Amino acid sequence: MKKVGVLTGGGDCPGLNATIRAVVRKCIIDYDYEMYGILEGWRGLIEGKVKTLDLENVSGILPKGGTIIGTSRTNPFGKNNAGDPEKILDTIKKLDLDAIVSIGGEDTQGVAHKLFEMGVNIVSIPKTIDNDLMGTDYTFGFDTAVNIATEAIDRLHTTAESHNRVMVVEVMGRHAGWIATFSGIAGGADVILIPEKPVKINEVCELLKKRHKRGKRFSIVVVSEGIKIQFENKEDEDFVLKDAKTDAFGHVTLGGVGTVLAKMIERGTGFESRCTVLGHILRGGTPSAFDRILGTRFGIAAAELIHKGEFGKMVVLKGNEILTIDLKDVSGQTKTVDDYWYNIARVFFG
Ligand code: F6P
Repeated sequence: MKKVGVLTGGGDCPGLNATIRAVVRKCIIDYDYEMYGILEGWRGLIEGKVKTLDLENVSGILPKGGTIIGTSRTNPFGKNNAGDPEKILDTIKKLDLDAIVSIGGEDTQGVAHKLFEMGVNIVSIPKTIDNDLMGTDYTFGFDTAVNIATEAIDRLHTTAESHNRVMVVEVMGRHAGWIATFSGIAGGADVILIPEKPVKINEVCELLKKRHKRGKRFSIVVVSEGIKIQFENKEDEDFVLKDAKTDAFGHVTLGGVGTVLAKMIERGTGFESRCTVLGHILRGGTPSAFDRILGTRFGIAAAELIHKGEFGKMVVLKGNEILTIDLKDVSGQTKTVDDYWYNIARVFFG
C-alpha cells in the first residue's frame, strides 16, 4: 500500500478540483493507494497539515472552482524560510508519504524540482490561468479565464458603443500576455497590449485615432496587467507602483496599469476612456469543459507516473497527447506569446 500526498500551490484556478478528483480516484480505484490532501500548498508540508482524501470527499467537486485543499504562495526556499525544506522532509517521513503530486505554476514547479533533487518522490501537474508554463501547450484554468474575459469584452462592446468611449480591459498575465491575446482575438479587441511587445502610448493613440477616422466611435483595448508602459511622467508611474507589495517569490502584486492607460489614452486622443480590471474574476467560478477534461487527463497521467515510479517529471499537453517533461527543464522558464499569435492579433488593430 502506497501513501500519496496531493498539494495545490500558487494562485488558484478553475480545474484544480477536477484534477484532484482524477488523481485521487485513479490512485484509489486502480492502485489501492492511501491518499492525503496537503493543506495550503507547501505550507501544509512545512507545518504537517494534511487531511485524508477518499472517494467520498472528492465526490461532487468536478464543477467547483478553487481548491478543496487550499493553496498559498509559501516558498520553502525563500530568504526568510531557513529550515523549511528540512521541515518538509520531516513531515514526509512522519506521515510516511511515498510520493507527492504537486499541482501548480512556475513557482510551485521550481520548488518541486528542488525537493526532487533532495530525494523527494515528486510528480507535477501544470496549472495557471496565465498559460505561461514551459513544455505544455496549455495549462488548465487558461481556457476558463479566456472565456470569462471574452464574455466581459462582448459586454463592454455594447456599453462602449452606446457612449462613444474607449474601454480598456485589464486582464491577468504577469510575464506573458496569453489571456490578453486569446480573449482579445476572440472578443475582437482593437488594440492588445502584452508584456512581450512593448508599445509606446502615442502608438496606441495613433491606432485608435486611425480607427475613429474610419468612422468608428468606440474602441476596446485589452491589456495584460504585466505590461511595462513607458510613462510620460513620474505621477503615473507612482500611481501604478504605489503600495506595491511583493509575495514570497519576490513578485510585485500587480493590478492598476489599465487605469493609468485609460487616462493616458484620453489625454492623447481626446476620446473619453474608462477601465475595467477583471483581476481575480478570471480565476473564480466553475471551470470550462476543456479545463475539466485537461485537469482530469493530467491527474490520471500523474497517478500513472507514480505507479511506474517515474519521478521528477511534469505531465504536459503536446498537440492532443499527454506527455511528460523533466522538472529541470521547466523551472525558471516562461512560455511567452510568440509571433505566430501576435501576428494574428495585430491584423485587427486600429
Ligand atoms: O497565477 C498567476 C496570476 O494569475 C497572475 O497573473 C497574477 O499576477 C497573480 O496570479 C495574482 O495572484 P494573487 O493576487 O492571488 O497573489
